[in-house]
Amino acid sequence: MATQKTFVMIKPDGVRRKLIGEIVGRIERKGLRIAAMKMVKIDRETANKLYEEHIGKSFFNELVSYITSGPVVCMVVEGDEAVRVMRTLIGATDPKEASPGTIRGDLALSKAENVIHASDAEEKAKREMSLFFSPNEITE
Ligand code: PPS
Repeated sequence: MATQKTFVMIKPDGVRRKLIGEIVGRIERKGLRIAAMKMVKIDRETANKLYEEHIGKSFFNELVSYITSGPVVCMVVEGDEAVRVMRTLIGATDPKEASPGTIRGDLALSKAENVIHASDAEEKAKREMSLFFSPNEITE
């Protein structure tokens, strides 16, 4: 059991569909703490860095166009095994496969516009957090 911080982002469709409160509520009700939060419009350079592991894949250009299409809400979420707990809470990437009760299972409409992102490993979480937050913006 270890307290971890992870990076979470409500994607443009989640903001457009006014799901911020619903999603933050689910994270908090699960006992996780929002350690930092900001709304930003991602530029293409930051999108390339955030999704660098997908450069060259067939969906990459669509992914960058989508993620830069409107504001997103970036968060640092803290709690016991926060990386794994958040991944369980958000559900599978494809909402058709995401279990009912998960954020994507209940709220997402397609694999491209799937409402929320959460880091899939602690090292990735540290890198992704550093793209959006300086250390003094993350509360203890
Ligand atoms: S892979 O190749 O299996 O690693 O990719 P996958 O896990 O399915 O998806 C990685 C992220 O890309 C997003 N995605 C898309 N975005 C836009 N358009 C299309 N067609 C598309 N297909 C996949 C998917 O939502 C994942 O985003 P994150 O933010 O990592 O959940």
